[in-house]
Amino acid sequence: MNLRSLRNPPLNIARGKHAEATQDCRMIMPGRRYHLETAADERKNDRLLLKSVIQRNWSRVGSGVLEKADGKTEPCFVKQYIDRTGATHRDHLRYEHDGAQVAASALGEIVIVPALLLKDEQRLLNIFTQVELITVDELLREDEHAFWQYYPLLLERLADVLAQLEASTSLVDTSSLPVKVRDYRSRGLALNFKGFEIRNTGYHLPLTSCNGNSPTILPPVVMFDFVRPYLAPIEEAAAKLLISIGLLNWGKPLSRFIKGPDIDMLDMAHHYIGDWTHREALEAELAMQRGFRFDAIKGANRSESSLKKIGLRSIGHRYLGQLGKWVENHYE
Ligand SMILES: Nc1ncnc2c1ncn2[C@@H]1O[C@H](COP(=O)(O)OP(=O)(O)O)[C@@H](O)[C@H]1O
Ligand SMILES: [Mg+2]
Repeated sequence: MNLRSLRNPPLNIARGKHAEATQDCRMIMPGRRYHLETAADERKNDRLLLKSVIQRNWSRVGSGVLEKADGKTEPCFVKQYIDRTGATHRDHLRYEHDGAQVAASALGEIVIVPALLLKDEQRLLNIFTQVELITVDELLREDEHAFWQYYPLLLERLADVLAQLEASTSLVDTSSLPVKVRDYRSRGLALNFKGFEIRNTGYHLPLTSCNGNSPTILPPVVMFDFVRPYLAPIEEAAAKLLISIGLLNWGKPLSRFIKGPDIDMLDMAHHYIGDWTHREALEAELAMQRGFRFDAIKGANRSESSLKKIGLRSIGHRYLGQLGKWVENHYE
């Protein structure tokens, strides 16, 4: 796993009402071996050998080896819910645990959902099967040609995922999930996740070489970082996908950010998944992203000059304006 690619641009994280002091939980460190504290008795003697860790905005992620009590070992992906400011987020640990379990049972036959191997509540750790993957946005930045080759097939798969989210309300037990009521018309409720978006989607490596031809087979698609599961109109799930596709150029590198949303990318997404949503759902999602993103720019990296922040703000404004226009042009 290329750890460098797991860094994300630092945000200035406001301490929310859920943040807790860190004293009850030590940051995990590379090179250490941890005896895991799990609820299940038979796993009591499992250990984690941590190889590397990267601090992201909301969590520390890393890779290591899970050494099971029976002597078997397994490479694993580890997430500890301590944010960049050092505050802990016990609620994130729980939501991600629930999301991973619900997603595995609902979507596990269509996409790869990394298995949740262990939860250590003491250390605030979720431990997943490590999957060799490249995220869709990494591929766009590293090999745009390959991105476009797989993109139509990916959209077809995402349409299947939406159908499955809609079907899941009767196929999986969703009785304990919160229901989000929205003030727009809907053809029905679907399973959804806070983290359901294109940046939490990738391809299992290695990518098959297509020698310049269009591939006819999609590499296995991986979805992760689902976070909190809930029920909401199906139009919201599709809107999260479409708007996040529209936001793929957001951020770094600046050359992409300045271009604004990629209209061809959006048009193709509209062709495959556009009918799953409508204008009200897209505008609601866009409004949410607008609030979230402007807070992020406001607080971006204390050391960044105000001039730079003003620049980012105006590029961001224009970007979201273009995305809003695209929505207006495609939806009544
Ligand atoms: N099971 C996994 N195996 C390998 N890499 C993973 C796995 N899950 C996530 N990743 C990688 O780690 C990155 C960060 O994980 P993610 O759960 O999305 O964290 P965040 O909540 O900070 O967005 C992902 O973009 C992906 O590249
Ligand atoms: Mg993520």
